[in-house]
Amino acid sequence: MAVRVLFVCLGNICRSPTAEGVFRALIREAGLEDEYVVDSAGTGSWHIGQSPDARAAAACSRHGIDISAHRARQVRAEDFENFDWILACDEENLADLNRMKPAASRARTALLMPFAGNPADRVVPDPYYGGAADFESTVHRAQHACRGLLAALQKARGV
Ligand code: 4NP
Repeated sequence: MAVRVLFVCLGNICRSPTAEGVFRALIREAGLEDEYVVDSAGTGSWHIGQSPDARAAAACSRHGIDISAHRARQVRAEDFENFDWILACDEENLADLNRMKPAASRARTALLMPFAGNPADRVVPDPYYGGAADFESTVHRAQHACRGLLAALQKARGV
């Protein structure tokens, strides 16, 4: 059965679409597209229906990742049934998710960044009020974390 992974940030226009794009690229390269269901969402509602932030799309594009087709959506109650892993970009996202999580949900909520394996790096900082370098850093962080995440999930699947 496919492993279902949801990446979550605040607006779903910068960090989580980047993480989704990075993870999709990794599973495509590894020939694992049929083994994973991948999506992203935001805890906030401000950007519902919008395309990714142009600066995030440009940073992804520089790494050969096209996130332009993504449209922002908000986290919804069904996500806690429909996903096995719900991975938050920062502590606020994680706290919001844990507040929303129904008691019966078997979804595992966690921070994304610790999968990179560097204990000093806990979060993907919000690049929204930053510049191009911050969006570049978002891609790098997502790459490190998603590589570790995929390795951990593959190990958990016993492959
Ligand atoms: P994201 O970035 O959570 O990485 O998508 C943000 C996008 C929008 C806002 C904040 C962060 N905002 O305040 O509108």
